[in-house]
Amino acid sequence: MWLRDIWYFALPSRQLRAGQMLHKTILGRPVLFGRTAAGEPFAMEDICPHRGIPLSHGRFDGCEVECCYHGWRFDQGGTCTAIPSLVEGQHFNLERVKVQSFPLRESRGCLWIWHGDAQGSGEDLPPPPEIPALDDGQMRIVETMRFPCDIDHAVVGLMDPAHGPYVHQSWWWRSRHSMHEKAKGFAPTEQGFQMVRHRPSSNSFAYKLLGGAPETEIRFRLPGLRFEHITTSKYTVVGLTAVTPLREGETEVNHLIYWDVPWLTPFTPVLRRFARRFLRQDRDVVELQQEGLAHEPSLMLINDADTQARWYHQLKREWGRASEEGRPFINPIQARTLRWRS
Ligand code: FES
Ligand SMILES: [Fe+2]
Repeated sequence: MWLRDIWYFALPSRQLRAGQMLHKTILGRPVLFGRTAAGEPFAMEDICPHRGIPLSHGRFDGCEVECCYHGWRFDQGGTCTAIPSLVEGQHFNLERVKVQSFPLRESRGCLWIWHGDAQGSGEDLPPPPEIPALDDGQMRIVETMRFPCDIDHAVVGLMDPAHGPYVHQSWWWRSRHSMHEKAKGFAPTEQGFQMVRHRPSSNSFAYKLLGGAPETEIRFRLPGLRFEHITTSKYTVVGLTAVTPLREGETEVNHLIYWDVPWLTPFTPVLRRFARRFLRQDRDVVELQQEGLAHEPSLMLINDADTQARWYHQLKREWGRASEEGRPFINPIQARTLRWRS
């Protein structure tokens, strides 16, 4: 159901401070995320192997996690280091007691968790997705929102160009009246596809603000990541929208924005409000959609506006097949131009 052997966006780095731990259900599993006093992040199953209570109810001293029930202690790799009830002479190999730990990586303000068979730190795994080049741009905005739907509907909603003028109507973005025909070049990329770098359409006020003939490139990659890379002769703005299944019927969408535009930074609170509103519009429409989906209707994908959605399903199928057959993933997408009105 959910793609395996792949990195998922787990949470924004800033949600996990040094010496802190937190619980989050991801891909149907309870996960304890922690960050040591030295700043190193880790993730393990949030279940005590003794009697099953979530370890996150216990204490974390910045080095080890202590269960709240009987005080067993675990290091950041999930290995038991102490069982307080043992008396002298009662020999017990603590190292046999292990909480499953999950490979976790941190880069550019994102924590990525591996969903697959690898355990521990997973040294042999491929690197997590890279945020497009941004020399000294920093992450300025993080918005997290939960969508009441499965991952597919959240992802398809992200890459659906035809909903913009209906769902995201606003003076600063676009309206139905600004709809016009578009033709964009697409090409396959690593684990996905891209809308090739181009001048964004003139109906977007937000792009105009940046000035200096902005160009944009939009990349999608499995399992549900959308990178928008906007450049002008001087500046770069990067948006990452990351979709992570929490459990069946619940998906988290994280929207992160990075930039190196000095004059934009004072407007961060305003831009954050816009980003939030944008995301909420997407969530609200998906919520309404659930009313119909509850009756399991058959759905349609229409050329060319829904071609990206179709590609997503093709990519997923191929990913699943490749990992089942233990062979490399072969990107099924062919370069082509898509045309639609939006
Ligand atoms: S349940 Fe965790 S130490 Fe007993
Ligand atoms: Fe949207």
